[in-house]
Amino acid sequence: MRCVCVCVVVLVALGVRVNSFKFKELMDYVDKHQEEYVQTLRDWVSIESDSSDVTKRAELQRMMGVVEEKLRMMKGNVDVMDVGTQRLADGSIIPLPKVVTAEFGDDVNKHTVCVYGHVDIQPARREDGWATDPYNLTEIKGNLYGRGASDNKGPVLAWIHAVEAYKALDIELPVNVKFLIEGMEETGSNGLDALVEAQKDKFFSDVDYIIISDCIWKSTRPALTYGTRGNCYFSAQVEGPKQDLHSGVDGGAVIEPMTDLIGILDTLISASGQILIPGVADAVTNFTEEERKLYEQVGFNLETYKSTIGVDRLMYDNKVDLLAHLWRFPTVSIHGIEGAFSSPGTKTVIPAKVTAKFSIRQVPNMEPAVVEKQVTDHLHAVFERRKSPNKLKVNMIIGAKPWIADPKHALYEAGKRAVKRVFHVEPEMIREGGTIPIARTFQDVTEKYIIMLPIGGFDDGLHSQNEKISRYNYIEGTKLFITYLQEVSLIKEN
Ligand SMILES: *[C@@H]1O[C@H](CO)[C@@H](O)[C@H](O)[C@H]1NC(C)=O
Ligand SMILES: *[C@@H]1O[C@H](CO)[C@@H](O)[C@H](O)[C@H]1NC(C)=O
Ligand SMILES: [Zn+2]
Repeated sequence: MRCVCVCVVVLVALGVRVNSFKFKELMDYVDKHQEEYVQTLRDWVSIESDSSDVTKRAELQRMMGVVEEKLRMMKGNVDVMDVGTQRLADGSIIPLPKVVTAEFGDDVNKHTVCVYGHVDIQPARREDGWATDPYNLTEIKGNLYGRGASDNKGPVLAWIHAVEAYKALDIELPVNVKFLIEGMEETGSNGLDALVEAQKDKFFSDVDYIIISDCIWKSTRPALTYGTRGNCYFSAQVEGPKQDLHSGVDGGAVIEPMTDLIGILDTLISASGQILIPGVADAVTNFTEEERKLYEQVGFNLETYKSTIGVDRLMYDNKVDLLAHLWRFPTVSIHGIEGAFSSPGTKTVIPAKVTAKFSIRQVPNMEPAVVEKQVTDHLHAVFERRKSPNKLKVNMIIGAKPWIADPKHALYEAGKRAVKRVFHVEPEMIREGGTIPIARTFQDVTEKYIIMLPIGGFDDGLHSQNEKISRYNYIEGTKLFITYLQEVSLIKEN
């Protein structure tokens, strides 16, 4: 008697689960509507929503309007949030594009996810070397070429279409879904930190998980991203004579600021990639055997990578060490020198003041405030030893912390199940060498758990010429998001 009862309960429970998720129906719907999805992406890509170019601000505002309209058409509870103004170099003040939010469902018995994305883009001009018009989405051999196709308009649309598919088929959403779509990501998400802070107990109060799909796979296999590096960005200025000098006339009279600057920059990192700033590497967490195993599973090919970036030698000759140095060890990059002679020709000017820009990628458990002191102390110490009459000023301009998640968290387990169901493979667990500062802000301010769930391909060319997303990734990615919502609904309360 008792056994029968239990069996019935189990069957009912299983039945509810199987019946309630109409996987095939939803997947078929996506297949049937893929031309429509591609056309919508074409419409979005045609809008030149370049956030770095203020002359394109009207286009960016139009883009935010299109997002708002799309979410309203889907009967979402839509809101546009003011994030204030931006002061331009000429002193004028212009409004920032408003952040668009939407809410689909508010059932207190369900989990609530918040999907973050952005619809502004990097600049793109045909003459930069694009094979096609960057604002006219063009399909070649299954790839959809256009600026923003992968970063991040395609993934944002895939999320919107995922929700739309449920609604079109009149299938109840398994979780409540919120959207938070911004238009200033490519220039540093101006105003967003303050908005997240202000909305902590409002928009975010009922959010359980935050999903970011603003990243890419590492190989042809789907991936879940569980970490990004932070970044400390510095300027180091050496100031010498009151005015520029001229070699041949004044050369030899002074220690040139450029000589000082190059001298101290050369003490940051060795030719073999070792950071030479005392203490900086000490805080870095130990590279564990468990991590090594995760890295070994990544289908990243050193030879392909070498040919993609066009070099014949890498700093590390095996996959695991190379990935480790891309993802979980800090590095120093020197970006440029302001005030240096950089035009063609052979001018023999000696600049009186030069400013170097360099950055140090941050990993657990580095602290930007500590790094700031280490770098400043180090540069002043080596400068001191030069006994130069010039003046050195060091500033940390950006101090973004790294973000790291537990790849075994229930949110990631749900991701693994969803990838398996849609792509029939286990996802690679990867990290991102770059910085996505908003992930850390979300984590610190809202204290919600975050997952990065990419659908873009490893060769999508974000920020470069000929950016694309493949039709396969765009459409199967939509299916992944649909399935992921269902898998998240099965997460037991943590
Ligand atoms: C986009 O490209 C296609 C194919 O080259 C062309 O037929 C179409 O006219 C272009 N559309 C726009 C708006 O430029
Ligand atoms: C890292 O490993 C070294 C030796 O292998 C050990 O002494 C040190 O305590 C470890 N550091 C951390 C943060 O676990
Ligand atoms: Zn992006």
